[in-house]
Amino acid sequence: MVFRSAFVVAALSARALAWTAPATLFDPLIAAKLLHEAETVNAPPLLPSITSTDGKWMWTSPNNWTAGFLPATLYQLAKRECLCPSSTLVGDSVPNWLEYGRTWTGPVATLHWNNTVGHDVGYVSFPFVDEVALFPANASAKRDLIDFALELSSRWSDVVGATSSWDSPANSTDFLVIIDNMINLELLLQAHLLTGNQTFYDIAIKHADTTLKNGIRSDWGTWQVVVYDSETGAVKVKRTSQGYTDDTTWTRGHSWAIHGYTRMYQYTKLSRFLDAARNLAAYFLRRAAENPSYMLWDFDAPAEERSADSSAAMVAAAGLQALAATEASLFNTTGAKKWMSGAQMLISQTAGYAWRPSWESVLANATRDNNGRDQPFNTRSKNTGLPYADYFWVKNGNYLLETKQVKCPNGKVPTHSACGSDLHGPSF
Ligand SMILES: *[C@@H]1O[C@H](CO)[C@@H](O)[C@H](O)[C@H]1NC(C)=O
Ligand SMILES: *[C@@H]1O[C@H](CO)[C@@H](O)[C@H](O)[C@H]1NC(C)=O
Ligand SMILES: *[C@@H]1O[C@H](CO)[C@@H](O)[C@H](O)[C@H]1NC(C)=O
Ligand SMILES: *[C@@H]1O[C@H](CO)[C@@H](O)[C@H](O)[C@H]1NC(C)=O
Ligand SMILES: *[C@@H]1O[C@H](CO)[C@@H](O)[C@H](O)[C@H]1NC(C)=O
Ligand SMILES: *[C@@H]1O[C@H](CO)[C@@H](O)[C@H](O)[C@H]1NC(C)=O
Ligand SMILES: *[C@@H]1O[C@H](CO)[C@@H](O)[C@H](O)[C@H]1NC(C)=O
Repeated sequence: MVFRSAFVVAALSARALAWTAPATLFDPLIAAKLLHEAETVNAPPLLPSITSTDGKWMWTSPNNWTAGFLPATLYQLAKRECLCPSSTLVGDSVPNWLEYGRTWTGPVATLHWNNTVGHDVGYVSFPFVDEVALFPANASAKRDLIDFALELSSRWSDVVGATSSWDSPANSTDFLVIIDNMINLELLLQAHLLTGNQTFYDIAIKHADTTLKNGIRSDWGTWQVVVYDSETGAVKVKRTSQGYTDDTTWTRGHSWAIHGYTRMYQYTKLSRFLDAARNLAAYFLRRAAENPSYMLWDFDAPAEERSADSSAAMVAAAGLQALAATEASLFNTTGAKKWMSGAQMLISQTAGYAWRPSWESVLANATRDNNGRDQPFNTRSKNTGLPYADYFWVKNGNYLLETKQVKCPNGKVPTHSACGSDLHGPSF
C-alpha cells in the first residue's frame, strides 16, 4: 500500500507544473461557510438539501438522500486539516471538524429501516465510511455501515440481477434501476470487507454487470432509468427522470457511473469494470469538450435549456482522479495523466463560473433537474447550490493534495499522503 501510494504520487506529479489549481479550491471561505452550516441548530434536526436561487440553504428532514453530505463534507475538512495543518482556520482557530461531522451523523443514523431514501443508503453512508476509515475500531460506525448495506441488499432481485432503486412504480411489476445506483455498490463492497459476507460482493458484481449490459449505450452514453419486469427480468423501457429526454445523457448520472465503475475495479480488479470506467470517462470528456465554458446538466440539452451543473462536473472530476490513481497503480503513466488532466480541466472550468462568495453554499450553478416534466423528483430546478457539489469540491481539493498535484495553501507539501483516504478504493 505504501509502495503503491508512493508510485502514484511519482507518476502523477510529472504533470504538476503544467497546471495551477484555482485559488478558490482552497479559499478560507470554504471552512467559514461549512462552519456556519455546522453550527446551525434546528430542532428536530434538519439537513441542507438544496439552496434557493439566491443561495440560501433549505433544510429538510434527514429522511432524504442528501442527508449524508453535510457530515461527509465536515469529515473531508478534518482530512484537509490532517493533510495541511492550519489550512482550515476560521478566524484564528481550527474548528473541531471531526466532532461536528460526528454530531451531524446522529440524525442520519436514525434512518435505519425507517426511511424512504430507498437505494440511496449508499450516499447517506459516506460519513460512516469516513469514520471507519479513520477509526477502524469504532464498532457503532461499523454497525451503521453494515446495516445500510443490509438494507441495500434487501432490495436485491435474483430475477433481474440488480437491487431496485425506487419504490412505488407505476406498475407493480416494474423494477426500476437508475444509473445513480452505481455509486452505492461501494457500500456493499465495504460491508464485504468488514464482514467477509460473500453475498454483498456477489450482489455488487451482478448489479454492475446488469447495468453494463442494459444501462449503457453502444457509444458509452448512459440511460438514467432502466425499467425491468420483476417477474421475468426483461427490460421493459429505458428512460430518464432527471435528464432532458429518455435517450439523452444526463451528465450527473454519467458522472456517478464513472465513479461507480472505477470503484468496482478498485475493489474487484475485474478488468471489464476498468474497461467500462475508461470508456465512460472518455465519453464524458469528449462530450464536455463540446461546451468548453461550463458543464451542461444534460449533454444534449437544447439551446433554451442549457443550464449548468457544477455538481456533475465535481462528481466526474473526483471519479477521474480515482481513475487516474488506478492507472498509476497499474504503472500506466499515459492513462494517469489523461484522466488527471481531465479532472483538472473540470476543476478550473467550475471555478470559472460556479464559485459564489456571497452564497451560503460554496458553489452555485448546480442543476438538480431541469426537464420540466411533472413527475416525482422532476420539479424543475436549476442555478442552485447543492450539498453534493460542495462535498465533491472539497474532496477534489483533498485528492489533489494527496497525490501532490498541489501544495498546501501555506506552500508546504502535505504532511501525510493520506488521511483516511478512499482515493484507491478500500480504505479499511
Ligand atoms: C428532500 O429534499 C428535497 C429538496 O432537495 C425536498 O424537495 C424534499 O421535500 C425532501 N424530502 C423530505 C422527505 O424532506
Ligand atoms: C419511524 O419514523 C416515524 C416518523 O418519524 C416514527 O413515528 C416511528 O416511530 C419510527 N419507527 C421506528 C421503528 O423507528
Ligand atoms: C464512532 O462514530 C460515531 C459516528 O459514526 C461517533 O458518534 C462516535 O463518537 C464514535 N465512537 C467512538 C468511540 O469514537
Ligand atoms: C404492467 O406490466 C405488465 C408486464 O409488462 C403488463 O402485462 C401489464 O399490462 C401492465 N399493467 C398496466 C396497468 O400497465
Ligand atoms: C450476508 O449478507 C446478506 C445480504 O447481503 C444477508 O441476507 C445475510 O443474512 C448475511 N449473512 C450473514 C451470515 O450475516
Ligand atoms: C450561473 O448562475 C447565475 C445565476 O445564479 C446565472 O446568471 C449564470 O448565467 C449561470 N452561469 C452559467 C454558466 O450557467
Ligand atoms: C493506459 O490508459 C489508457 C487510458 O485509460 C488506456 O487507453 C490504455 O490502454 C492503458 N494502457 C495500458 C497498457 O493498459
